[in-house]
Amino acid sequence: MAEKSFKYVIVGGGVSAGYAAREFAKQGVKPGELAIISKEAVAPYERPALSKAYLFPDSPARLPGFHVCVGSGGERLLPEWYKEKGIELILSTEIVKADLAGKTLVSAAGETFKYQILVIATGSTVIKLTDFKVQGADAKNIFYLREIDDADTLVEAIKAKKNGTAVIVGGGYIGLELGAALRINNLDVTMVYPEPWCMPRLFTSEIAAFYEGYYANKGVKIIKGTVATGFSSNANGEVTEVKLKDGRVLEADIVVVGVGGRPLTTLFKGQVEEEKGGIKTDAFFKSSVPDVYAVGDVATFPLKLYNENRRVEHVDHSRKSAEQAVKAIKASEEGKSVEEYDYLPYFYSRSFDLAWQFYGDNVGETVLFGDNNPETPKAKFGTYWIKDGKVIGAFLEGGNPEENSAIAKVAKLQPPVESLDQLKKEGLTFASKI
Ligand code: FDA
Ligand code: NAD
Repeated sequence: MAEKSFKYVIVGGGVSAGYAAREFAKQGVKPGELAIISKEAVAPYERPALSKAYLFPDSPARLPGFHVCVGSGGERLLPEWYKEKGIELILSTEIVKADLAGKTLVSAAGETFKYQILVIATGSTVIKLTDFKVQGADAKNIFYLREIDDADTLVEAIKAKKNGTAVIVGGGYIGLELGAALRINNLDVTMVYPEPWCMPRLFTSEIAAFYEGYYANKGVKIIKGTVATGFSSNANGEVTEVKLKDGRVLEADIVVVGVGGRPLTTLFKGQVEEEKGGIKTDAFFKSSVPDVYAVGDVATFPLKLYNENRRVEHVDHSRKSAEQAVKAIKASEEGKSVEEYDYLPYFYSRSFDLAWQFYGDNVGETVLFGDNNPETPKAKFGTYWIKDGKVIGAFLEGGNPEENSAIAKVAKLQPPVESLDQLKKEGLTFASKI
């Protein structure tokens, strides 16, 4: 079998890989030095599009429209770009074995890839209901969404089950974005999740109440505090019903499951230090193994601002960690160093005509400001998180670019707060005057 050798190999061809490639090109890379090996059949693209514009019934986003780096306002890297730069895109190639001591990767087809420096950018995979042995969870038309192939399968199902019934299992990011996308496609949508309100890992009950009310007004039904314990299917093996733990049974032509992700570290188990489910890195995304870096969803890195090691499963960090790793790799080759990664967590989501942004950390007391009534047209409201007398996190729905920058600044600078009542009264003005 063929053996190929590169100075740098990026394993994984998602968001981080694309932004790393751009940074390599910026820093200077010779033709033939860099390869990206990806299980997916397409060049790196902005994954967030898959749960949003990709699923629109009218003028949906399609490749090549959303290849990286358009999501952050950068140049769109088409397959030709990689060719011009002499960066080898090795697509539809899954790495099934990694030998970090021997600096070798082996693909499912048996090809061997040697490298001097490895960047692990394998991202996450979805947690499946079959992992928990939920009865009937292997039925047809039960979908998960991670990669473009998953999105294509879902688009076909939406067409095939026009005006049908959909059940969304999970009330996190995928649940909320897909609940909206399927409703926009005129399906009869019911969402089911175990917690007392949606997106509990970020939202307060007051934030969630707005989104739940808004979704209800759009005709999305929400069932909270229970889980799917089984599925019925017809003679073709297609799902027909979702059975809930509380005894209710829901009809379903389509089921979309979003019950969380899991970082893809399996290939490297036992070969590299791990922490909090990810590959442990330093502030330059260097792992415990020399010449091996990890970026994006798989990296557990020092979050300097909070003096704590964390993993972040969001696109902004995947882009910035990739750039940081490549800068560090190139600098160390010249005996130079770069500044430590100093990341301000930034998450966002969009659904229907809503858009929110969050910066910082969501711990401590909270103060809601603005109008979170879901009946209000173009409602604008937010929340501050306060710890040790300082604002450390900020959320804003419906903000304009200046307002979003203002809440980012607050979360970064952590200004002191004298009175929570005063903060509530000032609301967004507090952020705008910082
Ligand atoms: P990413 O998942 O992008 O890429 C990993 C790549 O590695 C994939 O191409 C995969 O096929 C490949 N791979 C894995 N194992 C391999 C192997 N063994 N061999 C070869 N290739 C392998 N975030 C946010 O902030 N805002 C948002 O709106 C969204 N929206 C969103 C929608 C959807 C549908 C998803 C699934 C995720 C989001 N996210 C998001 C999260 C964000 O997309 C995510 O954090 C980044 O894509 C992570 O980038 P990575 O490069 O780490 O992984
Ligand atoms: P998530 O962690 O956001 O949400 C998981 C949700 O699953 C929980 O909130 C809970 O409601 C639910 N849940 C857990 N067990 C359940 C069960 N047995 N039955 C029913 N519900 C159950 O994960 P996700 O929404 O699946 O997203 C997957 C990944 O994609 C994450 O890494 C996420 O960050 C990323 N993503 C991010 C965005 C964004 O940032 N806008 C958008 C889409 C996806």
